[in-house]
Amino acid sequence: MMTRCDITLTVNGETLSRQVPVRRSLADFLRQDLGLTGTHVGCEQGVCGACTVWVDGCIVRSCLLLAVQADGSEVATIEGVADSGAISQLQAAFHARNALQCGFCTPGMLLTAQELLAREPNPTRERVREYISGNFCRCTGYHAIVDAIMDASNEIGHDRTTR
Ligand code: FES
Ligand code: FES
Repeated sequence: MMTRCDITLTVNGETLSRQVPVRRSLADFLRQDLGLTGTHVGCEQGVCGACTVWVDGCIVRSCLLLAVQADGSEVATIEGVADSGAISQLQAAFHARNALQCGFCTPGMLLTAQELLAREPNPTRERVREYISGNFCRCTGYHAIVDAIMDASNEIGHDRTTR
């Protein structure tokens, strides 16, 4: 019988307690236990970045973290940040620049880009390429994604100077 463990964590602002198998990944917990399927699972080996979420404000590959390791943490998924409006400028820029095709990489890409812009509001194109290098996209060739992130960074910078 698989050992189970009680965990309590905050997901998208809501504190919840669950009993989970000790070997369940955070990605599977979010998708299967909570129905938050915006967190995608590609490689399950920490390579592709599709499963990116925020844990305590930092991007994390949720396929590599066990749900029990997130006990006591604050987790944010694409559903939470989209609902809160936290990534609305990035979403609009991705839409305007056609920065997605199949969309499989997009949630992880947006969460990674948002972390970059929160830490470095005016990145160079090279820095954007470097920062998203752990998020694989098999469709776009990355150019439109970098364009969109640069547009969002200019927009956020403009908002700051006109406030
Ligand atoms: S599914 Fe987690 S990095 Fe690919
Ligand atoms: S849009 Fe298809 S993987 Fe990026």
